[in-house]
Amino acid sequence: MAVVAVRHYRANDRNKVRQISWDTAFMGDPASAFFESREFMMDLLTGYFTDYEPGSCFVAESGSTVVGYLLGCCDSRALDRVSVRSLVPRLLARLASSDVLVRKKNLVFGLHMLWSLIRGQLYCPDFSREYPATLHINIADGFRRCGAGSRLMEAFLSYLKDKGIPGVRLATYSRDAGAFFAKSGFTLVFSKTRSYFRYIHGRDVSVYIYARKLDDSSKGSS
Ligand SMILES: CC(C)(COP(=O)(O)OP(=O)(O)OC[C@H]1O[C@@H](n2cnc3c(N)ncnc32)[C@H](O)[C@@H]1OP(=O)(O)O)[C@@H](O)C(=O)NCCC(=O)NCCS
Repeated sequence: MAVVAVRHYRANDRNKVRQISWDTAFMGDPASAFFESREFMMDLLTGYFTDYEPGSCFVAESGSTVVGYLLGCCDSRALDRVSVRSLVPRLLARLASSDVLVRKKNLVFGLHMLWSLIRGQLYCPDFSREYPATLHINIADGFRRCGAGSRLMEAFLSYLKDKGIPGVRLATYSRDAGAFFAKSGFTLVFSKTRSYFRYIHGRDVSVYIYARKLDDSSKGSS
């Protein structure tokens, strides 16, 4: 079994973190299943966390190699503000000045996503008051089920508790990962079926929102 240690994110982990985000974006498998512009997708998945809130991010290492990450955010309203003011305009400008949108794979995915949006499938309740913090966690294939995810989660929850953050939530498409989040003290608070991966996956997927309070009443439940 791989020996994995957890530490705070450092600036020189950025490339490896971005690579893992690409390799795991399709429910643990590479984003190439549905997209083909790597830099664009990696910016979308990790840009806020590595560039605007690196202090809330953690990595798991085996030897000196980064094999997993937890990208955290203490207040998702800050993430929304930065997205609206800076990240989304920059990504839209890149869409307009590159071939990302006209690549067939991306175009097909974009149209399925648009259809889901029109059908109201992207709706998600606002949990930002009760559970302001959020996170993305991914472990590279070959290093899963070795305790890395649990150690990353413990580090982040303890970091949030020290800051007095009252709650944390996350979204996942992976049914399997639900068992991990339940073991980490999270409860399922919302789920919704989405059709935009049906053309690849052969069936609809669901987005699951898990949440955990971090006040005294949740102590000992992780
Ligand atoms: C889900 C994930 C973050 C869990 O991290 P991990 O390092 O593999 O998990 P751990 O080794 O710390 O597992 C702790 C416990 O969680 C549960 N668990 C973890 N992964 C599980 C899985 N795929 N299915 C069922 N239970 C799982 C088990 O109870 C496990 O304890 P055990 O191994 O003693 O039975 C990681 O497997 C992963 O990145 N998977 C692919 C991408 C993904 O699904 N990301 C989810 C976030 S969007």
